[in-house]
Amino acid sequence: MAFPDLRAFIASVEQFSTLRRVSGADPHLELGGITEIAAGLVDTPALLFDDLKGFSRGFRVFTNPLMAPERAALALGIDPRLRPLDALRAWMRKRQQLKPIRPVEVKQAEFLENSSDGDDVDLARIPAPVWHRDDGGPYIGSGSIVILRDPDTGWITASIYRVQVHTRNRVTVQFDHLGRHGAIIAKKYWDAGKSCPIAVVNGDDPALFVAGFESLPLGVGELDFAGGIREAPVEIVPGPHTGLPIPAHAEIVLEGELIPMADETLPEGPFGEFTGYYAADQRPGAIMAVRALHYRNDPILLGSPPLKPPRFHVGLPFRAGGIWANLEAANITDIAGVWQHVSSLMTVVSLKQRYDGHAKRAAMIAAGNAYMGRIVVVVDDDIDPSNMNDVMWAIATRCEPAEAVDIVRNGWSSSLDPRIAPSDKARGVTSNSKLILDATRPYAWRDEFPKPSALSIDEARAIEEKWLGVLRPG
Ligand SMILES: Cc1cc2nc3c(=O)[nH]c(=O)nc-3n(C[C@H](O)[C@H](O)[C@H](O)COP(=O)(O)O)c2cc1C
Repeated sequence: MAFPDLRAFIASVEQFSTLRRVSGADPHLELGGITEIAAGLVDTPALLFDDLKGFSRGFRVFTNPLMAPERAALALGIDPRLRPLDALRAWMRKRQQLKPIRPVEVKQAEFLENSSDGDDVDLARIPAPVWHRDDGGPYIGSGSIVILRDPDTGWITASIYRVQVHTRNRVTVQFDHLGRHGAIIAKKYWDAGKSCPIAVVNGDDPALFVAGFESLPLGVGELDFAGGIREAPVEIVPGPHTGLPIPAHAEIVLEGELIPMADETLPEGPFGEFTGYYAADQRPGAIMAVRALHYRNDPILLGSPPLKPPRFHVGLPFRAGGIWANLEAANITDIAGVWQHVSSLMTVVSLKQRYDGHAKRAAMIAAGNAYMGRIVVVVDDDIDPSNMNDVMWAIATRCEPAEAVDIVRNGWSSSLDPRIAPSDKARGVTSNSKLILDATRPYAWRDEFPKPSALSIDEARAIEEKWLGVLRPG
């Protein structure tokens, strides 16, 4: 399903998921705190804030947009009623066959309903929250797409990078490392002694958010990929200041230039990270001189700040889908599912064991591809990997620590890893170790393993279908 804009998505959230309206919150820390508490509730509601302290009514903020599985499914154009593991499988298949669709230019841009440029630009009009206690400042971009054009090929990149507000017309854009496509493109302009035209785009069909989060190969455009997800082109209008293709139904748009970092920088961050810590220091950030600010009437700022795990930006673990695809590509058969918990820091593979060593073979591939995670668990196919209670039951009853635990050293992590010692980080260490827990029934005597007394997955589903209406009315 293609959502014409963020507002249509919010209407759909009301229909298929949970939306709560919050009035009177302070964008300074309180809004972020409410967002974190709501994200920890059982139904993980999305929140629409209005009447924010210090702002006129109508300047709204929408948070936890895709945090629940059904909302992530809606954004991916997948049936929101699917069970989470089935939805992840459906997305994997859709992604494998996805055909990018080029954006189309339209005449009308809703984001031009209100425009200011030059000295009239004042970002203080937009309620950019200070999300966490020790953040370096307010962040207008915690789910914004940053649009840049490659000066050599014309390729347009549109990925998510965070954007911190410093003054009425200066923000910083954070590239985690020099390999980010945004960083590569900006450097081309800077090396030629020029500033880099840039647009920061906030709030549209969340397919754009998904595309902006996806790691796509160099040269593949996120706007085209988003078109593939929506099965309809993204509608764009050239930005009046930069000429960059800007999604026409966006809520809030900043246009301007990224100043060469050799000329000037501003201290960026720190910003609360998805691990629940501040593990990276304040660093020099690339300054965007904001030349124009555009926004729709009664604009809605889409906010997706990193929060304490297990709260994560998207309710379906895309990276687990990636590991699932890796396992299939390596011809590991009989995978029943792959899931990630603790904001992707714990990976669980469920499989039907066909031979001795099957589980460990899968575990090694998952451990190799589990970014930053330290825990990889393999369970039998009677365990739903998306159900943490079932996974813990398997660990507590099928994994004998003296026999079924391995540690892989120097695995893939990052400088954001809170458990790498500062002295190690200083000498460039960005790896961690991975704990592999084989929580499958031991292959050699699997048929003698005590039979479970609990319902099987299929039995439980059948009972739920018949009786859930009585057990959980409404
Ligand atoms: C909400 C959110 C915020 C993000 N913030 C940043 C960020 O500030 N800097 C960064 O380099 N990557 C950030 N990322 C990750 C990138 O968007 C992601 O890795 C993307 O694939 C990078 O695109 P690229 O390969 O085109 O550079 C964020 C992702 C999400 C979902």
